[in-house]
Amino acid sequence: MTNSNGKLSEEKVFKDPVHSYVHVQDRVIWELVATSEFQRLRRIRQLGTTYITFHGAEHSRFNHSLGVYEIVRRIIDDVFREKPFLNEDERLLCLCAALLHDLGHGPFSHSFEKVFHFDHEEFTQAIIVGDTEVNSVLKQVGNDFPKKVAEVIAKTYKNKLVVSLISSQIDADRMDYLLRDAYYTGVSYGNFDMERILRVMRPQEDQVVFKSSGMHAVEDYIMSRYQMYWQVYFHPVTRSSEVILTKILHRAKQLYKENYSFQTEPVHFVSIFEDKLTLKDYVKLDESIIFFYFQVWQDEDDAILSDLCRRFLNRNLFKYVEFDPSEQMMKMMELRTLFEEAGIDPNYYLVVDSSSDLPYDFYRPGEEEERLPINLLMPNGEIRELSRQSEIVDAISGKRRTDHKLYFPQDMIEKLPDANNEKQKIKEVLGI
Ligand code: NI
Repeated sequence: MTNSNGKLSEEKVFKDPVHSYVHVQDRVIWELVATSEFQRLRRIRQLGTTYITFHGAEHSRFNHSLGVYEIVRRIIDDVFREKPFLNEDERLLCLCAALLHDLGHGPFSHSFEKVFHFDHEEFTQAIIVGDTEVNSVLKQVGNDFPKKVAEVIAKTYKNKLVVSLISSQIDADRMDYLLRDAYYTGVSYGNFDMERILRVMRPQEDQVVFKSSGMHAVEDYIMSRYQMYWQVYFHPVTRSSEVILTKILHRAKQLYKENYSFQTEPVHFVSIFEDKLTLKDYVKLDESIIFFYFQVWQDEDDAILSDLCRRFLNRNLFKYVEFDPSEQMMKMMELRTLFEEAGIDPNYYLVVDSSSDLPYDFYRPGEEEERLPINLLMPNGEIRELSRQSEIVDAISGKRRTDHKLYFPQDMIEKLPDANNEKQKIKEVLGI
């Protein structure tokens, strides 16, 4: 079946709509894909609740993970073939890290992380080094191989060139998710010329640089990312569904803490609610489990839990108005009181949601997280940071944009009887 050098006797391929084909020559990669922990990614959507806004966005983390692997494989095996910069061990290390970089994502990670303070990166590490099928496959390469793969994903691995292929401001992860998310949502903003970018990549000592002749392709990539964030990832309707999902989790936990008797015991949630989640419990979670509970909780006696679940499943979402936390906190306090008096619990039905993104930045000492700059290789051999050469990138460099919205159930407010003293007041304050 396999050769002694760890290669499959015949190359395998996966058909992929973004990269056409994903090629596998290494036995370890083929076996990693077959593990239960990796197959689980088929049951976790790449974009969480975005399918509620863009109905095509049903693609999974499985698709994306294979895509990131394929981009890294092409960089190593095709783009840099004439100038090999990695030995066979580090080549395999890069491929495994690319394939496994999102392994620890759970169902609707974004909301779960917010409510229960999970960290998917910690789970990725734990699955790789823990007692799992993935770990036993990686150990076939060497006893310390799982640890090295975990280090590359955690960005602590000693060879920074290896790390920068998987995570930097222009890496295989970002290139795949932009192209893939654009493809599946059907929006064109995410598209950019990846083939051109791959052609102008050059390995340097500790990072990848880009020949300056390819600068416009890199600019286009930065703009794609910027536009995808605001048009797709932070879409206000998607955020509304996320707000509701978050509140369902809050409500279920609250009821559990109050010893509420559920018609269907939330067995898969018990260890989460009790803060005793083990790796074994975690890898059992997927979106089908979550949907099962939302489905049955629609019929729970608790009015808040059943209402929120119905809203989520039937896309009866909260409406929103713009909100400025620096000026409107008084308004928020007033609304909370009015909601309470009207019999609508503001803890579940009045929610401020904030989204924030920094499109591109170069390293500034002492500011936020360190970001590796994107560097251009000039014709005279000089290395120049991208925003010093590109006016377009300079215009958005280091500029964090934040957006706040106030979410509320407009239908519920409209349904209040006209005689209700608070109804008009609430509508006035919200400006609806
Ligand atoms: Ni990823």
